[in-house]
Amino acid sequence: MKIQIKSSLNLALKTDCLVVAFKPAKKLGTQQSELNTATGGLINRLQDAEQFDASQSQITTALAPEGIGGKRLMLVGTGDDKKMNTEDIRSLFDGLAKAIKQAGLLDITFDLNALVAKSDMETVARHLVESLGDAQYQYIMQPKSVRGPKASKDLKLTLCCADRKQASAAKKGAGIGHAINSGKDLAKNLGNMPGNVCTPTYLANQAKKMGKSHGLKIKVLSEKDMSELGMGSLLSVSKGSREPAKLIVMEYKGAKNKKEAPHALVGKGLTFDAGGISLKPAGKMDEMKYDMCGAASVFGTLLAVAEMQLPINVIGVIPSSENLPDGIANKPGDVVTSMSGQTIEILNTDAEGRLILCDALTYTERFKPQTVIDIATLTGAVIVALGHQTAGVMGNDQGVVDDLLAAGNTSLDHAWQLPIKETYKKQLKSDYADLANIGGPTAGTITAACFLSYFTEKFRWAHLDIAGTAWGGAAGKKASGRAVPILTQYLIDRC
Ligand code: BES
Ligand code: MN
Ligand code: ZN
Repeated sequence: MKIQIKSSLNLALKTDCLVVAFKPAKKLGTQQSELNTATGGLINRLQDAEQFDASQSQITTALAPEGIGGKRLMLVGTGDDKKMNTEDIRSLFDGLAKAIKQAGLLDITFDLNALVAKSDMETVARHLVESLGDAQYQYIMQPKSVRGPKASKDLKLTLCCADRKQASAAKKGAGIGHAINSGKDLAKNLGNMPGNVCTPTYLANQAKKMGKSHGLKIKVLSEKDMSELGMGSLLSVSKGSREPAKLIVMEYKGAKNKKEAPHALVGKGLTFDAGGISLKPAGKMDEMKYDMCGAASVFGTLLAVAEMQLPINVIGVIPSSENLPDGIANKPGDVVTSMSGQTIEILNTDAEGRLILCDALTYTERFKPQTVIDIATLTGAVIVALGHQTAGVMGNDQGVVDDLLAAGNTSLDHAWQLPIKETYKKQLKSDYADLANIGGPTAGTITAACFLSYFTEKFRWAHLDIAGTAWGGAAGKKASGRAVPILTQYLIDRC
């Protein structure tokens, strides 16, 4: 997406489509009547013929208008309310972006001042860019199919502002939106790829590529390296698979003080989760290719951070493995020793996410991070609790949790806190090890986080369960690019 910001609107500007935000008014405002006059009274005729009353999110299009440079004129209503919340603005833009995609428009000019009056230019520009990015996204099938969809052509966007001050706010918002789009596109691509293409080795190579293109330091630990570190829990999961596990470490150093303590993001990279010996039912098992969406969020967020050159240090840690049944796979009742020294009784081999995350979290201690956030498609139970709309968040530090909740609200990538308490932790008692890897049939999302809490005592930590939000829901079987927006916002807010 190419984005141009202007500090005024020139009606003669050549463009595929001029989009103008309109507020309901008996009499047209100065700008609106200028447009009406230039187009020979077209606005009045549209108000008449289509009953365009500028109610919120209403869209009307005129083809080949006279008197202006645009080949089309699109009016979008802002409604009567004095203020519009960000969610309403985003849903207005989602409608607009869909109409633009459907019409195949590539060069679009926006005058959104009527919307800016109800919010602010930075928010408006950011969410416009994000909505357009979501609507334009196209997964290119792997392996490449002749009949498969082609990549969307690049959009050219011109944002016309009221003055220089607004133009600089628009530039800032559009920059954030663009970076988040890049991150989401990458996360969607990785998530949508089939499990036989996107393996732990593929993710590791992808990280090395990104390291070269975006100046990140990349380190990939092999199974041998992990075994030397004592990662018995992680390796027990990958044992049942022929694809070797990888621990991918990505370092972004943007802070002035290169020694400043980093923020760490730890993402579950289960490239296919069949459940292991505790095999999952066949229906929808294909969706377990998305079980690496936590890892994809870490990739996407680091890309966004690097694109914005945020003045902050960030570490990405990705434990990546498959979880398959095999003659030497984990069996229910097996006991393994984690890198922390704590032993784990594996009562269900399908609760594997926590088994790979716990060793990655212990490994993360060596970076002496300010905060650690792990992101994982960890439990089906979070979908029961919060649906596909909201991620679950839990942690050992209310400050980190609150910062994440706030970032969720700003970015519209929402999260909701669930409690971690002793009474739940009791559910993880084992007769044969320090911990059991499951906590029984109730409060599955919470007991999963409780399990992780035994491996995060040395730092300020929060856990995001994105099993509901990373794919699916109304959008169908498609990766959503979440949690890139909330994580990127969290890091922007730390700068
Ligand atoms: N990757 C799954 C979680 C999941 C399930 C995400 C369905 C999205 C949809 C995870 O590894 C898993 O299997 N969790 C089990 C835990 C249980 C055995 C305690 C689950 O949620 O059923
Ligand atoms: Mn599982
Ligand atoms: Zn899983």
